[in-house]
Amino acid sequence: MKNSQLIPSKNGLHVAIIMDGNGRWATRQGKPRHAGHQAGAAQVRRIVEAAPKQGISVLTLYAFSSDNWHRPKFEVNFLMNLFQSYLQSEIEKCAEKGVRLSFIGRRDRLNPVLLRLIDLAESRTAWGNNLHLRIAIDYSARDAILAAAGKMVGQQSPTREEFSKLLNEHLLNTEASLEVDLLIRTGGEKRLSDFLLWECAYAELYFTGTMWPDFDIGSLKRALQKFYRRQRRFGRVPLAEAI
Ligand code: IPE
Ligand code: IPE
Ligand code: MG
Repeated sequence: MKNSQLIPSKNGLHVAIIMDGNGRWATRQGKPRHAGHQAGAAQVRRIVEAAPKQGISVLTLYAFSSDNWHRPKFEVNFLMNLFQSYLQSEIEKCAEKGVRLSFIGRRDRLNPVLLRLIDLAESRTAWGNNLHLRIAIDYSARDAILAAAGKMVGQQSPTREEFSKLLNEHLLNTEASLEVDLLIRTGGEKRLSDFLLWECAYAELYFTGTMWPDFDIGSLKRALQKFYRRQRRFGRVPLAEAI
């Protein structure tokens, strides 16, 4: 049974990806870790381009966790520069292709150049409706949940939808629920590493040993095929057995 038989998804899928394995991919080839990040960025371009044709309407990519600040300074700086050059080259392309870019995570620790590019990306692509590409930078799901909870002190308990809105308050013009349908993690680890803990309550989880720089369009299609073969029950019984 396809998932759509239980909860029809009007707008396409929300796929979230933990893009892991860049460092190991590089090390295995005798290259420095940052070469893996460079190759990973090229793969992001391909996957983003393919996503709408694969029925994905929201794609959330984990680019840098709040815990990644603890990496060596050179690697952190390399990644921040990579985000900048990615945005410099992609903002106009995204605007042309109807890709709406937005960013989740803390902004107060990002450098001013990157911040300006993020602001520009969000305003320049705000009306894109082909794909909503969300990039998580300096992101921690637990911190996001704590921040949303902090906004409610003294208020009545919100509904789930209201709380989801609080979590994504900075995203204007956004559907209340950004629940993840399919969470993909490349690189072989089977953990969430503080990514979208609230939004993944009923996500299908797909773990693959493929390192992110090798995760191509064929890999994405295989993940989606597996997703469509799963039966999502959301705590209920299958429709055919419900009397
Ligand atoms: C993911 O790849 C990219 C970031 C966390 C920024 P890693 O850099 O974690 O690669 P591995 O897991 O060390 O191979
Ligand atoms: C998660 O990968 C963060 C990103 C992919 C950006 P990590 O490599 O940082 O996660 P751990 O350390 O293996 O849990
Ligand atoms: Mg890793």
